[in-house]
Amino acid sequence: MIKESEYKKRRDSLVKKMSDNSIGVIFSAKYTTRSHDTQHPYRQDSNFYYLSGFKEDNAVLIFLKEKNRIKTVLFVQKKDKLLELWSGERLGEKKAKKRFLVDKVYSRDDFKRKFKEYIRGKKTIYCELSSKKSDVKKVLELTKDFNAKENIALMVQKMRLIKSVSEIELIKESIAITAKAHHRAMIVNKKDKYEYDLQAEIEHEFKTNGAYSDAYTSIVACGNSANTLHYIQNNKPLLEGELILIDAGCEHNYYASDITRTIPVSGQYTQPQRELYNLVLETQLKIISMIKPKVKRSALQTSAEEMLTKGMIELGILKGEYKKLIRLQMHKKYYPHGIGHWMGIDVHDMAPYKDAKDREIPLKKGMVLTIEPGLYIDKSDKSVPKKYRGIGIRIEDNILVTKDGYENLSSAIAKSIDKIEAISFKF
Ligand code: GLY
Ligand code: MN
Ligand code: MN
Repeated sequence: MIKESEYKKRRDSLVKKMSDNSIGVIFSAKYTTRSHDTQHPYRQDSNFYYLSGFKEDNAVLIFLKEKNRIKTVLFVQKKDKLLELWSGERLGEKKAKKRFLVDKVYSRDDFKRKFKEYIRGKKTIYCELSSKKSDVKKVLELTKDFNAKENIALMVQKMRLIKSVSEIELIKESIAITAKAHHRAMIVNKKDKYEYDLQAEIEHEFKTNGAYSDAYTSIVACGNSANTLHYIQNNKPLLEGELILIDAGCEHNYYASDITRTIPVSGQYTQPQRELYNLVLETQLKIISMIKPKVKRSALQTSAEEMLTKGMIELGILKGEYKKLIRLQMHKKYYPHGIGHWMGIDVHDMAPYKDAKDREIPLKKGMVLTIEPGLYIDKSDKSVPKKYRGIGIRIEDNILVTKDGYENLSSAIAKSIDKIEAISFKF
């Protein structure tokens, strides 16, 4: 759980970065339409949630900074018996004032009037400049004569780079549920089943453990399907002798997990599968072991590419001289993606990778990132020994950067061939 005092601390630290005579405004997310008369489940805007922990729509946070005075104001939707009958209980102004450590709470209906009042005498507006929210357009119109406009979203995203102790706890809880889901996928009998059957097993585990949602659409890709990086159809049969790439993670209390395991349908890896799997695994372990403060993600990327290139030469997948293959970036055909990304409230956490001077931000204590090397060999690739064709492998863990190294937050999920085979259903 994150305490109200921590949310307040975040807001205070944001306002500290604002200039005098300025106003900051950040809006909640809106419901989005799925199709006629149906909506997607509501999820709060990540930055708004980070600053408030408030899960209702139609809310606004305002920060007023004058010379000797700082004021935070929250606008919430007012109580309405009839609307609450349809869409659920609202907190309302009174309870919101009790719960949130803000100076004032008003009804959302009062927002426009109050906003016009607040902007008098102000010179700078901090708002979600690059957002498509219609409310942002409206406040920008009302403040079009201001001297300066700054992106409040980017300021919050920078804060989200470093996770607090309580955020790390929540990420661990999210991963613990995802661990159960991946283990269930390993243990379950896959004979005559389909990819969607495994997806259902995984998501059953998410839901029955109280996870609000998946953090992204689960990928359950058997055999050659794994060579489509964003495969989400999940509608093909699980064929004996093939591998299944499962990239699935729940979101729990607004924190993501993002785990990939590649497991055998019939409980045992074949020899060519073992060779490719161990190359990806050794690469992943090596890259994780490099993680510590001051290291750059680009260095991890380069090392992964070098290791995979060397390994692919040994397996006869890449042919030619190592240095030339590296220069020509030949690995990209089989390892075309990044080594990992920030993770937190969003699975691809909305935090910057570069600083204001466009320099890469090195790792720091408290960052959480994924490490996810992979190899993808399409079934139609005639340049590769036949035994490796149609195999796609990725191994992904979630890593916390610590004071002098790292902690693999998902190390409890079976990953070595021995461990996976030991718990997998065999037929
Ligand atoms: N599941 C999305 C990713 O691995 O980045
Ligand atoms: Mn993933
Ligand atoms: Mn990932």
